[in-house]
Amino acid sequence: MDTAHRSFPILVALFVLLFGVTSSQPYEEFLQCLEFHDSNITSIVYTRANSSFSSLLESSIRNPRFDTSATPKPLLIFTPRQISHIQSAIRCSRAHRIQIRVRSGGHDYEGLSYSTISPSLTFLVLDLRNLRAIQVDVPSKTAWAQAGATLGELYYAIAAESRTLAFPAGMWPTVGLGGHISGGGYGSLLRKHGIAADNVVDAQVVDVEGRILDRASMGEDLFWAIRGGGGNTFGIVVAWKLSLVSVPPTVTLFTVSRTAQHKGIELFHRWQHVVDKLPDDLIVMASLSRDNGTILASFNSLYLGSIEGLILMMEAKFPDLGLRRENCVEMSWAKSILYFAGFPLNSPLESLLDRTISATGSAKFKGKSDYVKEPIPISGFEGIWEKLKEVGVQTGGLILASYGGKMSEIPESSIPFPHRAGNIYQVEEVAFWVEDGVEAADGYLNWLRGLYEYMTPYVSKNPREAYANYRDLDIGRNGGGGEGDYRRARSWGSSYYKNNFDRLVRVKTAVDPANFFRNEQSIPPLSSWR
Ligand code: FDA
Repeated sequence: MDTAHRSFPILVALFVLLFGVTSSQPYEEFLQCLEFHDSNITSIVYTRANSSFSSLLESSIRNPRFDTSATPKPLLIFTPRQISHIQSAIRCSRAHRIQIRVRSGGHDYEGLSYSTISPSLTFLVLDLRNLRAIQVDVPSKTAWAQAGATLGELYYAIAAESRTLAFPAGMWPTVGLGGHISGGGYGSLLRKHGIAADNVVDAQVVDVEGRILDRASMGEDLFWAIRGGGGNTFGIVVAWKLSLVSVPPTVTLFTVSRTAQHKGIELFHRWQHVVDKLPDDLIVMASLSRDNGTILASFNSLYLGSIEGLILMMEAKFPDLGLRRENCVEMSWAKSILYFAGFPLNSPLESLLDRTISATGSAKFKGKSDYVKEPIPISGFEGIWEKLKEVGVQTGGLILASYGGKMSEIPESSIPFPHRAGNIYQVEEVAFWVEDGVEAADGYLNWLRGLYEYMTPYVSKNPREAYANYRDLDIGRNGGGGEGDYRRARSWGSSYYKNNFDRLVRVKTAVDPANFFRNEQSIPPLSSWR
């Protein structure tokens, strides 16, 4: 055999090593690779040929906007049952050049945990639904919770052990712990205890090499980055160790709504002057919404105390709202989650465990976010009111979460989530629609972008800040396959992370220099600087 022929098999082996997939069906080789690591693994792999593929994919699609025949689909869905399955998935995906999109609860606003903007991308969904064990330790006020658990499952597990413990995270039960804490995670306790990522004390992560790391072995830089620096970027979070917080056995809630004729605009304006200065036992959130033609200003609140205490506090701090006893209701903190989610008052606590409930039904949605540092003038609110009246907008508006309290005490660089002192409230601009088709969607998207444009003079500037968990690809993105470009990413990265963006890039460069974990808005490594 001459030298050329002898080197041919070596060249083929090199080609396979470098370019991985040689078959027209890359998943076959991926599956062989998985089987090589664990012979029983194929029962948790769902290819497109599997009859359960579509229902499994759709079961955690939380924005029907990304559940159409045109939405790019994964090559397969992989549902690990143990941590070694995740390690195998990473090793085989790397070897066969299949991108991983990890999904916990599936609430990503742009559908990036199960889809992509790039129709030609070969990717798999690593769905963590089977990894949702939760262990609550009352004496140490901590809990280990796997990333595939939902907020509802976490709150239920805590409530089963204690009525006076809670965790300061979001208010919708089916949101997944994996994505939520990776992007921050705020809820009704943010003014008293900060956000979810502020209250993480350890974590278990599988990195790009397939190693299982905890806080001690990953080091403080990576531990810092995973607490708010965005999902699908630094590794796969398998579990979080959470520091639980104390709440009274009974809390009080209220919802008060007003139309424009009933001083809705004036109340909104007044609300801005008081909300961030209230005692941190009280949060009063607000929304301005149009629901089938009626425009309403609504205020809903959680008070860590009794009705009597709340009435006295509101009379002293925000008398204009005219809060009355009959507006208020007392319950346990865990049940307050069901209240905020719109469940009937007598719903059983077990409703928190229902993973099938949908926030929007069949309605598609798009959200954008902002931060307000100076009160918006009345004329500004009048303009928003007019925008909400625009023809064609079926449902939409602004959802406002008040800051201050503990949020102002935590330094901006404490974790990647930087939106702290100086913010009166966070804004979510949102549009919902039920019609199918690109034309209808464009109408609503244009309306929402118009509202966002209208907000420009009233919100934060340089950067115009945004909340990473309200992912918005309008503010910038990587390439369709997630290929990052440091310089371009700096623009949207500064909106989400402000001065923490560069540290996130440094961590990414150290832990995943080849950018294996990526999506359209993941932090790129420094090597992407063009
Ligand atoms: P999903 O599984 O889609 O993941 C989101 C991102 O994180 C994706 O990029 C994904 O790849 C990545 N990821 C997921 N699991 C991971 C893991 N284990 N390791 C690494 N990366 C992982 N926010 C808030 O702060 N307060 C609130 O009250 C609410 N309420 C709310 C209600 C509804 C109806 C929606 C649709 C969304 C919210 N959110 C929210 C926003 C929510 O926090 C945000 O969408 C989270 O990223 C969702 O996390 P999931 O795991 O559900 O999503």
